[in-house]
Amino acid sequence: MFQKIEELILEVENFKVESREELESFRIQYLSKKSPLTDLFAAMKTIAPEERKNFGLKVNELKNKAEEKFRALAENFGEVAKDNGPQLDPTLPGEPITIGSRHPVSIIRNHIIEIFNRIGYAVAEGPEIEDDWHNFTALNFPPEHPARDMQDTFFMDDEWGMALRTHTSSVQVRVMQNSKPPIRIIAPGRVYRNEAISARAHCLFHQVEGLYIDENVSFADLKQTLMYFAQEMFGSETKIRLRPSYFPFTEPSAEMDVSCNICNGKGCNVCKYTGWLEIMGCGMVDPNVLENCGIDSKKYSGFAFGMGIERIAMLKYTISDLRLYFENDMRFLGQFK
Ligand code: PHE
Repeated sequence: MFQKIEELILEVENFKVESREELESFRIQYLSKKSPLTDLFAAMKTIAPEERKNFGLKVNELKNKAEEKFRALAENFGEVAKDNGPQLDPTLPGEPITIGSRHPVSIIRNHIIEIFNRIGYAVAEGPEIEDDWHNFTALNFPPEHPARDMQDTFFMDDEWGMALRTHTSSVQVRVMQNSKPPIRIIAPGRVYRNEAISARAHCLFHQVEGLYIDENVSFADLKQTLMYFAQEMFGSETKIRLRPSYFPFTEPSAEMDVSCNICNGKGCNVCKYTGWLEIMGCGMVDPNVLENCGIDSKKYSGFAFGMGIERIAMLKYTISDLRLYFENDMRFLGQFK
């Protein structure tokens, strides 16, 4: 065995290398998995214990000789030896760092906030996990009220009826409890509904709701405010229409449509040939809600409204499927810079 190693050391020393090909055969012959080194290291455990140390030293000598020779030769051929890490070419162009863009929901949310900021609305926020009272009861739909069916959500099994909020009207309740009129706020935020995910519905979406309370606030104020919003968002030619509707927390209640900004009201597949697009719910705050929140309903009145941000963004950008917002596909998201 020892003699065999000596011979191999001599072989390594005398090996003539004149080309890159020969260098490669040297590597395969003496340093690869197929080289005698592999067998010699494997044979270690069969060597008698008292000889093992010397045997090990010899095998390592062979290994070091082969590696040194390989490194020196590789440098001669202008190559960096493989075990010296990857080759570095500082003249190559770098990896480009791509710049991200805002999510369309964020762009539209910021736009809505900015439009209402201009007429004196402040931003209010509240918890996404809400108790039953703030999300439903204070808003005039107590337990067992049939209107609760319209807003099913994810409930926790506890004594306070904690649940993921179905709208940011709960934030309006908190603001009314904690401040005195005049109140002029918008509440942007994430909301939840127990709905199957499809092109038109999702269990998670974003809303901006608004609330204005003062003395002598009328339905005319509501209409003027929402018309201002519609024209700022969709263009100065935009028309609005209010259709009677029902919400437990407003009386009277309405749905607001804007004239279709794609066909200018002529009729197309986005507005389903009606010329109108529904964008939000609104109404005069029900006196019961004011009283529930500690506001004198004889002295004060107010209006409220609420819209889905995804819906507004779909109409602004003609996006046809709600699921696109949540898939994080860069090809989609990169279009809204
Ligand atoms: N909270 C209602 C919803 O989520 C929207 C709304 C707000 C309607 C305020 C009227 C007044 O559907």
